[in-house]
Amino acid sequence: MTPLSQVEHAVDLRRSVGAWHGGGPIGFVPTMGALHAGHERLIEQARRECARVVVSIFVNPLQFDRADDLERYPRTIEADAAICARLGVDLLFLPTLQEMYPTPPACTVDPGTLAEHLCGAYRPGHFRGVATVVLKLLNIVGADRAYFGEKDAQQLAIVRRMVADFNVPVTIVGVPTIREGDGLALSSRNVRLNAQERLLAPRLHQALGTADHLIAGGNTDADAVKNAATRVIGSDDLLRLEYFEIVDPDTLQPVEAIAGPVLVAGALWVGGTRLIDNCRSAPTSPRH
Ligand code: PAF
Repeated sequence: MTPLSQVEHAVDLRRSVGAWHGGGPIGFVPTMGALHAGHERLIEQARRECARVVVSIFVNPLQFDRADDLERYPRTIEADAAICARLGVDLLFLPTLQEMYPTPPACTVDPGTLAEHLCGAYRPGHFRGVATVVLKLLNIVGADRAYFGEKDAQQLAIVRRMVADFNVPVTIVGVPTIREGDGLALSSRNVRLNAQERLLAPRLHQALGTADHLIAGGNTDADAVKNAATRVIGSDDLLRLEYFEIVDPDTLQPVEAIAGPVLVAGALWVGGTRLIDNCRSAPTSPRH
């Protein structure tokens, strides 16, 4: 295994990446660390499609709406570096807070109506923080392709739109969600679930499956689909459904009558852990 190069400063990163230009596509996987199989899938895809791969690890305070969430966010830098080395990452960017925000930013990226619903409605400022740090990272790294998980569907839609709106010269690649055997989407937050909570956690995925089934079967009434799907979650003192919405996959605005592809997304609190998941769904075309 070749030793993994690590840099802290944007100027050093630019120097390394600059020397690679012209030698094939450069792939970039931005992360906040605590790498799991979901991140591994992003890195593996970048590795397959690009000549060089850069991974960043930066726990971005700007996107945390709760101080305790930021504090509790898992930090596992040595294990993360080992994963990057094993997967053949060329360069690991580990900027400090001072490097990314030498002063609190005066200019930030406003995702507008894209952040009005779904997670954005419950996490004020979250997507402004995400879009701002992603734009900074894309500018610093200068990659040709950047990889994001489809599990964070709202984030992915916002990043795609930001890149289009600001003419950022990068291709955004969405990578399908990795799941445990019982359907639970992999997330850095899953480690916080105790045994009882872990048993309940797949209920969100089950509700999404029900919604998908109803929509594919021709049910066009979004409220009826949501009601039937959320009944699957059931009631338990440990469960609290934050939202379960059916929205347009690009504008992220709620849909009332389902006539084409939609994004079905939910957030479920399981004990003290907030889990999100989603699926793309569409009415099945009638056979002729
Ligand atoms: O998905 C994440 O891990 C973060 O939101 C990202 C894209 C690395 C920005 O901090």
